[in-house]
Amino acid sequence: MTKKGVFIIIEGLDGSGKTTQANLLAKKLSESFSVFFTAEPSHGKTGTYIRESCLYEEKRLPAASEALLFAADRIEHLENEVKPALAEGKVVICDRYLYSSLAYQGSAGLGTSWIKKINSYALKPDFGIFIDVPPEQVLERLRRRKKSVMETLEIQQKVRGIYLKFVENGELIKVDGNGPKDEVSSVLYSKILGFLEK
Ligand SMILES: Nc1ncnc2c1ncn2[C@@H]1O[C@H](COP(=O)(O)OP(=O)(O)OP(=O)(O)O)[C@@H](O)[C@H]1O
Ligand SMILES: [Mg+2]
Repeated sequence: MTKKGVFIIIEGLDGSGKTTQANLLAKKLSESFSVFFTAEPSHGKTGTYIRESCLYEEKRLPAASEALLFAADRIEHLENEVKPALAEGKVVICDRYLYSSLAYQGSAGLGTSWIKKINSYALKPDFGIFIDVPPEQVLERLRRRKKSVMETLEIQQKVRGIYLKFVENGELIKVDGNGPKDEVSSVLYSKILGFLEK
């Protein structure tokens, strides 16, 4: 039976290929499903504030303030965009979600249980992917771009460690993101299709 109104999230380190893969996935799935492709931080009020205020060193806020802003953006995005799309039966593909908060704000020393608590109104995804690429390699991919505050080897290693815990407990499914884009995309697509058609 083919599912409808399915919420898929794509997680991974900076530069691991989330946006590349989410776009490829949306394109392939569009042949058979009605797809809504979106991302966090959103383009709503709080997401726009986050993009302008949190991502670079010179504009940094305390970690707990950032975690609260990301949680607020998540709710705004869910209510205004994700839930309406799911109600229309669409397959929603979201580039980053709750696990980004757990991994990134977690790497800054905030506890998992508190981050989960402030996100307790966040809808549980139906299928969560973690695109795994070694931290050294993502930093190499991002060499030419202005670095966000999170793009250091130490932080990326911590972030990956937290993501892998959610792979171990089954909340995220790991996909090796090391190969060429098309190869990664084929693996990802077959996993998602398997889930959608189950
Ligand atoms: N499988 C791949 N092999 C080599 N390079 C790749 C691969 N996938 C993506 N890239 C390149 O790596 C860079 C980062 O990719 P992308 O923007 O998709 O990552 P991201 O995870 O969305 O990053 P961010 O967290 O910064 O949004 C881009 O230049 C992209 O073309
Ligand atoms: Mg991206």
